[in-house]
Amino acid sequence: MKGIILAGGVGTRLAPLTEVTNKHLLPVGREPMIWHPVKQLVKSGIKEILVVTSTSHMGDVVNSLGSGKRFGCEFTYRVQEEAGGIAHALALAEQFSEGQKIVILLGDNIFEYSIAEHVHAFQDQPSGARVLLKEVGDPERYGVAALDEKQVVAIEEKPVKPKSNYAVVGCYMYDNQVFDVIRNTKPSARGELEITAVNNLYIKSGQLQYSFVKGRWTDAGTFDSFLEANTLLLSNQNRILE
Ligand code: DAU
Repeated sequence: MKGIILAGGVGTRLAPLTEVTNKHLLPVGREPMIWHPVKQLVKSGIKEILVVTSTSHMGDVVNSLGSGKRFGCEFTYRVQEEAGGIAHALALAEQFSEGQKIVILLGDNIFEYSIAEHVHAFQDQPSGARVLLKEVGDPERYGVAALDEKQVVAIEEKPVKPKSNYAVVGCYMYDNQVFDVIRNTKPSARGELEITAVNNLYIKSGQLQYSFVKGRWTDAGTFDSFLEANTLLLSNQNRILE
């Protein structure tokens, strides 16, 4: 399997910190934020990783990550010229994926523990997609999963009245149908190709599996969650990925 880290977008919610640098290069714990998803993928056995970021910050991202030698992996880089959404950024990975299954991490997602067990579960899954869920106190900030006894029946992006407290976290696993699925999605009201629309198409065809994240999880995209991410990686015996 191959890995993809999405580190485009504008980082508006962390301005002015993001005026001269990319959100994913801001410090979280003792390292730049983007090092965390890199280490998660490598720890899960994924050694070929595509990093997608914006034109203005590609140079700094490459300066920070390099070839991948220090992490034990090999990086490929692609520029996302406009912040057209998570699925728009993912579409840039079609050639890179070479028809293999892919594991995607959003560059601002921080986990207390390794996600390796979920990656292995997807490895054993013959086809389809897999998402990770986490119970949260503020579901309206996320994609929210409605569950029946067995399945995710729908995902709503930032619902005003969430149907559950289960956030879909920024780790998505897909088979190679995903690029056709993206071609079948339309931009949302906020003008983005939404990963939630992609996941809902997998649900419609009965091909979306899920598992629950153990331990703490946060994104680092707002000041509150940025603080939470820092606390998590500083306090945690987060040698877990070393
Ligand atoms: O963190 C989990 C949440 O991430 C999910 O629950 C939501 O369903 C999903 O839409 C997303 O929500 P956010 O509002 O937090 O997404 P945001 O626009 O902050 O983008 C998250 C990351 O995705 C960002 O750190 C970099 C990447 N990204 C985003 C956009 C819009 C790109 O690479 N390109 C983009 O155009």
